[in-house]
Amino acid sequence: MQVVILPTADLACELVATIMERQIRRHPDSVLGLATGRTMEMLYDKLVLKHIESGLDFSKIRTYNLDEYIGIPPEHQGSYRSYMNNHLFSKVNIDISNTHLPLGNAPDIKDECRMYEWNIKANGGIDLQILGIGKTGHIGFNEPLSALKSRTRDKALTPETIRQNQGLFDSPEDMPRRAVTMGLGTILEARQVVLLATGNSKAEILAKAVEGPITSMISATALQLHESCVIVADEEAASKLQCRDYYKWVFENEPDWQEFRIG
Ligand code: F6R
Repeated sequence: MQVVILPTADLACELVATIMERQIRRHPDSVLGLATGRTMEMLYDKLVLKHIESGLDFSKIRTYNLDEYIGIPPEHQGSYRSYMNNHLFSKVNIDISNTHLPLGNAPDIKDECRMYEWNIKANGGIDLQILGIGKTGHIGFNEPLSALKSRTRDKALTPETIRQNQGLFDSPEDMPRRAVTMGLGTILEARQVVLLATGNSKAEILAKAVEGPITSMISATALQLHESCVIVADEEAASKLQCRDYYKWVFENEPDWQEFRIG
């Protein structure tokens, strides 16, 4: 695992957008794993800008999102399908038939989960997986006690997650209580993983995820098992990390990061 700390959320998002840009330019038919949530909004704005201003080409890109709420149709304004269409897919030249999210109102959710897993494998697996982190330490909707080997499945959301996300629905009661999520085992199979965390509210959980012991109580700790995982944080989210100075030294001095350093 590597940790990159940048002064602001804007710079943290810019770095993740640049990592994605590099992947897309080198491998225009890449399979991207995508996340939703407030943190990702600035990232998607930056990708849209790269498309408009420097022709970043999404025409052959295929995407798989981490999760979707159960019980609402894709066209519901609070669905993650709507989120992705609004923030990214409708603003770049992606072929919408190459974008995938679990169907939250599928007649048979277990079957939907099996098919989603099968579909990812049939497309060659995920090249670059983008993640956020919830206050419970979830990645995707892998809430506490998610098995470290779990696959795509339905999962009950914690009260904390429901509180965190209910603002996106007309009334708190409309917020779904369950979701389909890629499992930790699914996420760990991605060839490269980048987790983006910004803001004070993520500081405590990020420190546990990165520097604490691996535990199914905090699913982001599973990322410590991944061979190619980068955590990108702003100063606020990184403020409770013990080894901040070491991580900064590595970013400033290691040749691998040279092309990503500003100035
Ligand atoms: C949603 C997802 C979640 C979010 C997390 C953080 O697709 O993967 O794990 O990344 O809940 O959400 P925000 O960014 O709203 O704090």
